[in-house]
Amino acid sequence: MTGQKIDGLEVAKSVKERIRMAVSELKSDGVQPCLATVLVGENPSSQTYVNNKQKACADVGITTKDHKLDDSFSQEEMNSLINSLNKDDTVHGILVQLPLPSQLDEFATTSIISPLKDVDCLTPSNIGLLSTGRAVLKPCTPSGIMELFDYYNIDLQGKDVIIINRSNLVGKPLYHLLVKENATVTICHSKTKNLKEHCQRADVIITAIGNREKFVLTEDMIKDGAVVIDVGIGRQEGKLVGDVDYENVIKKASYVSPVPGGVGPMTVAMLLKNTVTVASFSKGIGPKT
Ligand code: GUN
Repeated sequence: MTGQKIDGLEVAKSVKERIRMAVSELKSDGVQPCLATVLVGENPSSQTYVNNKQKACADVGITTKDHKLDDSFSQEEMNSLINSLNKDDTVHGILVQLPLPSQLDEFATTSIISPLKDVDCLTPSNIGLLSTGRAVLKPCTPSGIMELFDYYNIDLQGKDVIIINRSNLVGKPLYHLLVKENATVTICHSKTKNLKEHCQRADVIITAIGNREKFVLTEDMIKDGAVVIDVGIGRQEGKLVGDVDYENVIKKASYVSPVPGGVGPMTVAMLLKNTVTVASFSKGIGPKT
């Protein structure tokens, strides 16, 4: 039996339809939703991600303010930029693309973003709300994955889920969202012993390594009917590839998300959703999506 492809493009399209309507409602209330993007340096992947995010904003009627900064941008300059964006009433959301060059401290930078403009859910107060199950703003990639489970009616209650990633952007926040749905969650990482055995036991595997020389999830590593979500992004012979040997894994799994066309479009869709949510704060009106 062959499993089903999880079509992130299709799900993202339906989310974007809802966002387009929410944006036009906000506009009729006199609010033009606006996202400020901050990109430091010339990292080609980050440039592509930020361009895609800006295009997606334009597509649903959200304006963007673009801040492209030199590789040598200092922490002091960054603090002053964030402070001015925090004060700017025409800017509702602030996105600082990660990773940052080594002279900039990621935590020092993201933690001074106003929690009310924190579309990535990286500020201490929003992380705290997330970890206690009270988040209004949820981080984009993890909430995009949860939206995929919801769309395909994949029940998580009591399921053994493993996350192969422990980053602040993916693994740690995803842990909280999954536990809230009553899953039994294990975080695996580079020091985990017997990774293959963890994978073979899991009902759901979410992998976000992004380096096929280090890790590829193959069909011998999963159990029959497992759900596999691929968050890895790498390049092989100029092509975008994930962590999963998709062609073979889908023959044994119940669902697999591909790369490209799986989680990636959902990350962008959730950024749009969070931008609409923060824009609705400015009118004292509740979230619109
Ligand atoms: N770099 C890779 N993914 C992300 C993301 O979701 N948000 C930010 N700010 N940077 C990233």
